Amino acid sequence: MNGSTKQSRPVICPLNNELCLETASTNKTVLADTTSSPGDEELCLAGPSDYQAVVDIDHNIYCGFDALPYHYPSFIQGPGVRGYIYKKGNRVVAFVSAHLVDGGQTLTGTSGRLAPDCRGSGTFGRFLRSVYQQYREAPDLRFITTATGSGIMTVHGHRMLKMFPTKILEKVEKYWTIDAGALGNVPVQQPDCFGVRELSRQDVHAMMCRSTDQLRHLFPEGRAVFVFKPYRIMAANTDVILRQNNVFLASGGNLSLRRDAPLFPGTLLTIGWYYTCKRGVCYNIDIYGKGSEEELRAHFEVHVMRWANVARAGETVLFTGFPCHMSEGIEKALRMLPLTASTEDRVVVVEGPYTH
Ligand SMILES: CC(C)(COP(=O)(O)OP(=O)(O)OC[C@H]1O[C@@H](n2cnc3c(N)ncnc32)[C@H](O)[C@@H]1OP(=O)(O)O)[C@@H](O)C(=O)NCCC(=O)NCCS
Repeated sequence: MNGSTKQSRPVICPLNNELCLETASTNKTVLADTTSSPGDEELCLAGPSDYQAVVDIDHNIYCGFDALPYHYPSFIQGPGVRGYIYKKGNRVVAFVSAHLVDGGQTLTGTSGRLAPDCRGSGTFGRFLRSVYQQYREAPDLRFITTATGSGIMTVHGHRMLKMFPTKILEKVEKYWTIDAGALGNVPVQQPDCFGVRELSRQDVHAMMCRSTDQLRHLFPEGRAVFVFKPYRIMAANTDVILRQNNVFLASGGNLSLRRDAPLFPGTLLTIGWYYTCKRGVCYNIDIYGKGSEEELRAHFEVHVMRWANVARAGETVLFTGFPCHMSEGIEKALRMLPLTASTEDRVVVVEGPYTH
C-alpha cells in the first residue's frame, strides 16, 4: 500500500469514524496498512465524489440490471456499509460494496467490478484481499460471503472456492418482461385473497427472532438472500432487510387472522422490492417455502400491481428468485399473467472463513 508514502495526515473518516490517512494531493481518504500490492495500486474508501469514476469502470455489466449508477449512495454508506475503490496510478479500476451483516459475524461483498482492460491479471483478487484486511480488528467477524451468477462461477468458480470453500445455497433467477398495457385486464386480488397477508415491521422482526428450526420450511439453509446478499435469520438483520420499498407477503399454515397479533410467517413467503436500472424499474420477488398455484399467483398479482404503480412506460422487467425445485410450479402459477419472454440464471451463494 503506497498511501503512506504520499504527504498524508491522520483524519477521522466521515463514513465510518475510523482513523485513516488523507492524502494531501488528492484529498481522498486512503486507508493505511493494506496488503502489499504493486506500487501503483492503492485501496481507498469510496466517497460521494467518486461516483462518476466508479460508474465509468464499466457501463455494460450485469446485463443492464446494474443498480449502482442509480443507487450509488446506498452502496457506500449506511449501517455497516462501505464502498471501496482500487486505483492504478490515479485511475479508479475496481469497486466493491462491503457490508458487515449478521451482527458483525459476516462480511459480504456485492456489486464488484473491475475495468475490462485490467481483467485476467489477479487484480480483483488482490483488491478483495486488501478490502478484507480492513476488517481485521472487527471482533466478531468470522465469515466472508458473496453471491454470484453461473457465468462468473464457470469462469472463476475454481479460484473462488479457495476463498469461499462452502456453497451455502443455489437459487434460480427467472427474468420476465411485462406488457404494462396488458395489466389492465388482470383482475386485481386483494392481499387477503387466498389468505395472503402483508407482514408488518413487527411481524418481520418477530420472524427474524424465531429459531432456525422453526423457520426451516422457509429457509432450509438458514439464510435469506435479499438484495443479492445472504443474511442469517437473526434479529440483528431485521433493520437491514426492512427497507422502504419492500413488502413481505405470507400465506398458508396457521397464519394468524388476528390483525393485532404478530403473524407466524406461514408456509409461503414472498419478498418484493424494486430498484432502478438501465432496463427500467426492476421488481424482484424472492420466494421462500411452498404454496399452491393459486396462492403463488395471488402473491404475484399483488407484487405485479405494486410494480405497475412504480414503473414508467416502456419499463417492463420483473424477476424472481426461488429454490431450484420450484421452477415448474412458478411457470404454472404465472401462465395467466401477462408475463412474456423469460430467461433464467442460477445464483450461487458461497462462504468462507475470515482469517484475522
Ligand atoms: C468478475 C470480475 C471482477 C473478475 O475480474 P478478473 O480480472 O478476471 O479477476 P481476477 O483475475 O482477479 O480473478 C478473480 C479473483 O477474484 C476472486 N473473487 C472473489 N469474488 C469474486 C466474484 N464474485 N467474482 C469473481 N471473482 C471473485 C476470485 O476468487 C479470484 O481470486 P484469486 O485471485 O485469489 O484467485 C470481472 O470480470 C468483472 O468486473 N466483471 C463484471 C462485473 C461482474 O460480473 N462482477 C461479479 C461480481 S459478483
